[in-house]
Amino acid sequence: MIRLVHFSDIHLTSSLSDWAWRDWFCKRGTSWLNHRLFGRARRFALADDIVARLMDDVRARPIDQLIFSGDATALGFESEIGRAAELLRVGDLSIPGLAVPGNHDYCTRFAEASGAFERHFAAWQEGRRIGEHRYPFARQVGPIWLIGVNAATGNRWPWDAGGQVGAAQLERLAQLLAGLPGAVKILVVHYPVCLASGRREPRHHGLRDLDALVQIARAGGVSLWLHGHRHTPYHLPQAGAAKFPVICAGTATQQGIWSHGEYLIEGNALRAMRRVYDLESRCFRTAEEFSLTLK
Ligand SMILES: [Fe+2]
Ligand SMILES: [Fe+2]
Repeated sequence: MIRLVHFSDIHLTSSLSDWAWRDWFCKRGTSWLNHRLFGRARRFALADDIVARLMDDVRARPIDQLIFSGDATALGFESEIGRAAELLRVGDLSIPGLAVPGNHDYCTRFAEASGAFERHFAAWQEGRRIGEHRYPFARQVGPIWLIGVNAATGNRWPWDAGGQVGAAQLERLAQLLAGLPGAVKILVVHYPVCLASGRREPRHHGLRDLDALVQIARAGGVSLWLHGHRHTPYHLPQAGAAKFPVICAGTATQQGIWSHGEYLIEGNALRAMRRVYDLESRCFRTAEEFSLTLK
């Protein structure tokens, strides 16, 4: 039996001391206004403490692998990414992890091009890959393969939270999946196949090449899709055209809906526990259980 912990969207924030003048004149400026004026900063005020509690919880339990499906930061600053990696103890070999970036981690094109996420999360991105290309990569955990795909893109417009895997990475993904022997293959990416209702994400918030990714995942034998991006958790036994189940981890740190998933996998059977943060005890407790069959 394999035990995985899946969490997402921790959205740690840095102080204003990290700002350069150019940050005010790009997407980061409007993201900051959204963060401050519309209550986002208040909703994530306890994020650092909850991540620390999460790691205490994980260390006390027999976990085989941590899975982080992106949005470590609020504004994609290197200081935020570094803080996240520090709190998550990336590089601590007693807690192996796998991470992919979210749209906030590539808040701007500078943030994407800086490679800061990949530098700080390097230990959580080790695995089998095609040539020297960072994405996608595959990690074996017992009889399971976890495959990390990067769908975040540094977008220009403030309202654009969409992403794209891109033709070159899709081609490498098809190659990588074809070379993984048998067993259960689990795709980890920031973006969902669909919303909890089964409907597609709106274009400005979803994956621009979703259909191509789903098609390659299906052809390559993917049997489960793990993601974040949406802050309320949900799961579906079959996600539209994907035909396989999906689990959205939701946000681990947003006030009132803070939770993560713990999955026990044996053969094709997955038993999940949704663990929520309890503000009074400052601990996590299991609030929901569900089962899925991996196809
Ligand atoms: Fe998010
Ligand atoms: Fe996101």
